[in-house]
Amino acid sequence: MPMIPRRHGWEISDAEATPESVYLNRRQVLTQAAAAGISGVLAFQPWNSTAWAAKNPLVTGKQANPPAADKYPAGKNTMYTLDRPLTDERVAAMFNNFYEFSTVSKTNIWKLVEDWPTNPWTVEIGGLVPKPKTYDIDDLIRKMTLEERLYRHRCVEAWAMAVPWTGFRLKELIELVQPLSSATHVKFTTFMDPGHAPSQRGIWSLFSSGMWPYVEGLTMAEATNEMTLMATGIYGRPILKQHGAPLRLVVPWKYGYKGAKSIVKIEFVKEQPKTYWNQAVPSEYDFLANVNPKIPHRRWSQETEWMIPDRSVRRPTMLYNGYGEWVAHLYKKA
Ligand code: MTE
Repeated sequence: MPMIPRRHGWEISDAEATPESVYLNRRQVLTQAAAAGISGVLAFQPWNSTAWAAKNPLVTGKQANPPAADKYPAGKNTMYTLDRPLTDERVAAMFNNFYEFSTVSKTNIWKLVEDWPTNPWTVEIGGLVPKPKTYDIDDLIRKMTLEERLYRHRCVEAWAMAVPWTGFRLKELIELVQPLSSATHVKFTTFMDPGHAPSQRGIWSLFSSGMWPYVEGLTMAEATNEMTLMATGIYGRPILKQHGAPLRLVVPWKYGYKGAKSIVKIEFVKEQPKTYWNQAVPSEYDFLANVNPKIPHRRWSQETEWMIPDRSVRRPTMLYNGYGEWVAHLYKKA
């Protein structure tokens, strides 16, 4: 039986709370919204990622020599709009789940990844494909069409954020590698680097389920859905290490644990992959992991969520995280 840490990362202490300056920044956004006569829920906001990035230099977490760096910022796909303000870039960068680096803290990950090299990086595409191949990440990204999308992101732990991801549709990659018709699922395997990721070594590996590497999976129908994104960037720039550099899966209608970070292998397989959290605690983390306010987690309700960094305001959770229009058909029984 895997060992699960007793204290969960989202139970942050006051000392670890987001710096006041960042919190104030969030308050300013709300005040401006109120002044504009909009309360609580905001309409879609025009978004200029270049201007935003210039104004908000990041604390840390940048990749050294990020792949395809000249491709940012990418063109915006305006089809996916938000009903709430974007999360401050620095807030998102300083509140993370990345169990390879810490099983207890969310607010320290950005520091813990500092010495972790993400270059060179290759991604193996294998399993049921006619031509298995290992791509250098720069070459792979250059073969794909990058775009920016604003997505809500809902963690199973009930915190949420709204972020501009840059990436390519997984569907485009699938069209490139032409998996065999016998493939029913896609398996995503993430990095192993015990030298830099403390939870992957020694005694710590026992306290973090001891089942590295982190693996996730999707059905082929989910993988080829238009919404499924392979993120390579965030806030108009190459993705930060704490968000899963250099390649991370984004499936916004599912709980965040499906979004495997720092992927090294993508395989087409003919059975449901054994995934990290589902293997660790199947009764709490199901394979499907679709956001659903009516299905409580075994230890807490999923009816509401809070947007980081403000825990005091809870809002209703939406079925499929509000993306039912695009994905509900995937789950209709024949
Ligand atoms: N990927 C890996 N490799 N390791 C992890 O611990 N945590 C998952 C997911 N992907 C995780 C991972 C969980 S639980 C969440 S909520 C999201 O990453 C958090 O992404 P963020 O830190 O960019 O917000």
